[in-house]
Amino acid sequence: MRRLWRAAWLCAALAAAPALRAQDEVPFVVTPDHVTLAMLELAQVGPQDFVLDLGSGDGRIVINAARRFGARGLGVEIVPELVQRSRANAARAGVAERARFAEQDLFKTDLSVASVITMYLMQDVNLQLRPALLRLAPGTRIVSHDWDLGDWLPDRVRVVDAPDKPVGREKLSRLMLWVVPASLQGTWCGQGAHATSRLQLHQRYQLFDATLSVGDSRWLLAGRIQGPSLQAAGGFDAHSDGQRLQVRATGPAPAALAGAEFARCPG
Ligand SMILES: C[S@@+](CC[C@H](N)C(=O)[O-])C[C@H]1O[C@@H](n2cnc3c(N)ncnc32)[C@H](O)[C@@H]1O
Repeated sequence: MRRLWRAAWLCAALAAAPALRAQDEVPFVVTPDHVTLAMLELAQVGPQDFVLDLGSGDGRIVINAARRFGARGLGVEIVPELVQRSRANAARAGVAERARFAEQDLFKTDLSVASVITMYLMQDVNLQLRPALLRLAPGTRIVSHDWDLGDWLPDRVRVVDAPDKPVGREKLSRLMLWVVPASLQGTWCGQGAHATSRLQLHQRYQLFDATLSVGDSRWLLAGRIQGPSLQAAGGFDAHSDGQRLQVRATGPAPAALAGAEFARCPG
């Protein structure tokens, strides 16, 4: 089914843009303008953000991020004519300073400059990008149009009507948001007065389960990691900078653990 959809997508796209050849099988298909706005809203883009559009086509996502949300951004695009067109579009919109474009392979792009990454690519390209996306700073937001990230499930999904979408029969766009979770897998040891506490954490993308032990007592926790924050059902709440993990609310565990700091156990 996915293969059929992919073939139909490619044919429709190539018919819509006969002058441009498909690059690495991701052709130039525009995201309708109102859908670009919905993508940027889903990521809660604001003036403090740097938006990186991977495969930026005619530049509309980065241009709208600058024009409508006050952000800065970079579009990377492998087709030179599209890069030129994007720069001209940005100049026409009066945002050439904040919306930049580079003729560049998205696979050779430094993703770490972005606070928000946008993509309208294809599933296999998304899957190739996934390891690099997971290494980004916790809290980085990723929005993809139509194509998901496999078994890394999105944090939020929004479906919008897209009657002027150049591909697909449904004329709907599925927008997905992921917030890069801190990488917290492993065993954490309580520090100072909490030296008898251990948090053994098993993480799968933004989901985790953990065993918290304080002396001989144990609690099972399960919840989500959103950026640097970790929340478990029952009210357990912690924050991590990657090296340290600080408990803010204890939920089912003893209240005395509030404020406790954990570090990765040696070995
Ligand atoms: C489906 S279009 C999306 C355009 C734009 N992001 C939008 O949503 O309107 C995908 C774009 O990715 C570009 N592309 C494909 N492979 C690429 C690569 N390896 N590096 C950079 N751009 C690439 C294509 O030329 C095309 O313009």
